[in-house]
Amino acid sequence: MEYLIKQYPLETGALEIQYIEEYFGEFPRKKTATEILDRLRDREFLILMAEAPLRDDPGTIVPVAFKIVHEIRQDESEPKLKDLVTRLRDSVEFEDRKVLYSWVGGTRRDWRGQGHFRALTEESEVWAHAAGFHEVVVKTKNRYYDMRGTLDQLEFNVVKYEIHPTDNRESKVYLSKRLTSDVLRSHTSSRRVVVAD
Ligand SMILES: CC(C)(COP(=O)(O)OP(=O)(O)OC[C@H]1O[C@@H](n2cnc3c(N)ncnc32)[C@H](O)[C@@H]1OP(=O)(O)O)[C@@H](O)C(=O)NCCC(=O)NCCS
Repeated sequence: MEYLIKQYPLETGALEIQYIEEYFGEFPRKKTATEILDRLRDREFLILMAEAPLRDDPGTIVPVAFKIVHEIRQDESEPKLKDLVTRLRDSVEFEDRKVLYSWVGGTRRDWRGQGHFRALTEESEVWAHAAGFHEVVVKTKNRYYDMRGTLDQLEFNVVKYEIHPTDNRESKVYLSKRLTSDVLRSHTSSRRVVVAD
C-alpha cells in the first residue's frame, strides 16, 4: 500500500489540524489554529496529514492522521517549551545539536492500525534527517497505551520517566530516537507526498 501524505505550510496547516482534531474525542484539550501558529512561527517545523478513502464511499478522500514536529532549542523563552527543555536537560544533549520535538499527532479511530502513523513518522524522519536534526523527542503519559505501544514499535527509547505524585497513570514518559541513516534504512512504508498550498 502507498500512503498519501500532504505537507502543509503554516497557515493552512494550522487550520487543517484544528479541523481534524475535532475528530479525536480522547484529547482533553484540542490545539487551536492560533496556538499552532504561535508555536511554529519562528522555528523549523513540519505539518503532515495522511489522507485515505472513506470506507463507504471510496471515491471520497479524507484526512485520517496527522503529525506536527518542530525544533526545540536550549534557549527557549516560551514558558511551555522552556519547561520542556529544562525537564529534558539531563536526558537529551542540546549543545551543538539540532533536536526535534514530536508535538502532536494521531489517527482517526476508523483508520487506526493501518500504518498511517508509521508512514507519517517515517516521512518526518526523512525530512528531519535531511534538515540536519540529530534526535527526535516525544512526550506521552503512562495511560496513553495506544501511543506507548506505537512508539515502542517505532523504536523510540524511554529517556525519562516523571512519576505523578498521586496517580501513576498520569506519569509522564519522555522518549527519543537518534536520527541516523540506519533509522532511514529501517523504514518500511511506501509514501507519496504532495505539498499543499
Ligand atoms: C497512537 C496512534 C497515533 C497510532 O496510529 P495508527 O495509525 O493506528 O498507527 P499505525 O497503524 O501506523 O501503527 C504503527 C505501529 O504501531 C503499532 N501499534 C499501533 N497501535 C498500537 C497499539 N494500540 N498497541 C500496540 N502497538 C500499536 C502497529 O502495530 C504498528 O507497528 P508495525 O508497523 O511495526 O506493525 C493512534 O492509535 C491514536 O491516534 N491514538 C490516540 C492518540 C493518543 O493516544 N494520544 C496520546 C497523546 S501522546
